[in-house]
Amino acid sequence: MALTVDKASKSFPGVRALKDASLELRPGEVHALMGENGAGKSTLIKIITGVHRPDGGRLLLDGAEISLSSPRDAIRLGISAVHQERNLIPRFSVAENILLENLPRRAGLVDYAAANAEAKKYLEMIGLTVDTRTEVRHLSVAQMQMVEIAKALSHEAKVLLLDEPTASLTGEEAEALVALIKRLKAQGAAILFVSHKLEEVLAISDRVTVLRDGETTLVGEPMANMTRGRLIEAMIGRAERTAVVRPPKPATGAIKLEAKAVATATGHRDISFTVRRGEILGVYGLVGAGRTELARALVGKDKVTGGTLSIDGKPVTIRSVEEALKRHHIGYLSEDRKYEGVVLLHPIRFNVAMTIWDRLAKFLGFQTAAGERRAAEPFARQLEIRTPSLEQAVGNLSGGNQQKVSLAKWLAAKVDLLIIDEPTVGIDIKTKTYLHELIGEIARGGVSVLLISSDMPEMVVLADRILVMHDFRLVGEVANDHRYDAVSKAIMGRIHAVEVDAAE
Ligand SMILES: Nc1ncnc2c1ncn2[C@@H]1O[C@H](COP(=O)(O)OP(=O)(O)OP(=O)(O)O)[C@@H](O)[C@H]1O
Ligand SMILES: [Mg+2]
Repeated sequence: MALTVDKASKSFPGVRALKDASLELRPGEVHALMGENGAGKSTLIKIITGVHRPDGGRLLLDGAEISLSSPRDAIRLGISAVHQERNLIPRFSVAENILLENLPRRAGLVDYAAANAEAKKYLEMIGLTVDTRTEVRHLSVAQMQMVEIAKALSHEAKVLLLDEPTASLTGEEAEALVALIKRLKAQGAAILFVSHKLEEVLAISDRVTVLRDGETTLVGEPMANMTRGRLIEAMIGRAERTAVVRPPKPATGAIKLEAKAVATATGHRDISFTVRRGEILGVYGLVGAGRTELARALVGKDKVTGGTLSIDGKPVTIRSVEEALKRHHIGYLSEDRKYEGVVLLHPIRFNVAMTIWDRLAKFLGFQTAAGERRAAEPFARQLEIRTPSLEQAVGNLSGGNQQKVSLAKWLAAKVDLLIIDEPTVGIDIKTKTYLHELIGEIARGGVSVLLISSDMPEMVVLADRILVMHDFRLVGEVANDHRYDAVSKAIMGRIHAVEVDAAE
């Protein structure tokens, strides 16, 4: 089934999200849709799935014009999507979420045995092994993402639209998804794929359409004709710029945080390390290594059950993120920014200023919208948050711009130690460079940074030293001289060495 978008336009108050944008999806093809944060990708997908009605333009299915007034209409026509924002119901089970619209029933009641069996079929397709009876709120971010994909598969669609499906996946999970996409393509599905990971896009797409400021700058170009450079040029209108690398320097600042033989409720054993003032300490590991869990324990979200944590040389017990921030000036930017990072209904200025209320209140005597705006403005500008004004509700921003708000919030907080989990997931290539420079600047200003990232190039550009974590233990430390090949080899070498040990 072929789907064509012919010169679609869509405006929101103060924003022209799409302007005569065109797209053509063919059966048996993977089509990449690319563009910077706020370029209009998700809006285009929402028009194709009946979430938004276009202000102008036409939608055609196999050459016949269609009109969609709801997502249900789209599903009925064989068009299904995994949206960028999460649409799962946290207190419903995995099976209930996957089959939400058509749960099997018997004598009027939901037939749970049948539902679980049916849902399991879709989980197997993507290689996710969780119990279908688990409530979704107990899953990891990556697992939730995979449940969303299973849900879209359950519609048996002929046109499948995937809006950053791999953003919170890494390694094996992303590979499983890529393999699945190839299978669906071989079965004749038309697949649209949005991702900011350029290598991934180049590897799996047959053709590409690029959006810039709501207009299509490339429409259905065969990927074979494309290079990384041409793609970037089409997206940002000029050539790529890479972040200025931090010169390697031995950290001489005072020790800010020290962990001594720390054990946690989630299973860490014997974790010892230090972070100095002004140092960026990287923590690298594969999925499931326990990096996010370590960050959570450091800020009191999970329990530390053994060993000692010291800040500025004094042993501490931290019970909550609030306490970490207010008493110890530790900021925590969690991996799950869609849930925790921002308050979607509030304006940008509120979100960015949220962590600095106390200071603002002290400075102004009370807290005002104008004060928040003054605090938020420089960060919004630096990260190029694309918005008509700082009064805009964060929920109305594009996915990547929401991420920028939650980052800006912590950058504005003036903390002494910043723990950042996957800072650039879902952030476009241009902003990624800015962000890397900003994190570097913050560290040069004396802030200690604990950086968790699965993005090896990011790790090599930013970190001063890299700790390697495997199975909830630290298995090595790699000095970083910013030479990619040598450093990444050393890191992977450490991981493989312990895997071989474990196998013997
Ligand atoms: N419901 C809405 N209300 C107001 N503005 C909106 C709404 N949805 C999207 N926009 C605006 O439309 C523009 C395009 O947003 P869109 O979400 O399509 O971008 P995107 O290309 O998907 O970006 P990203 O890579 O960050 O996900 C942005 O300026 C965004 O702020
Ligand atoms: Mg988007």
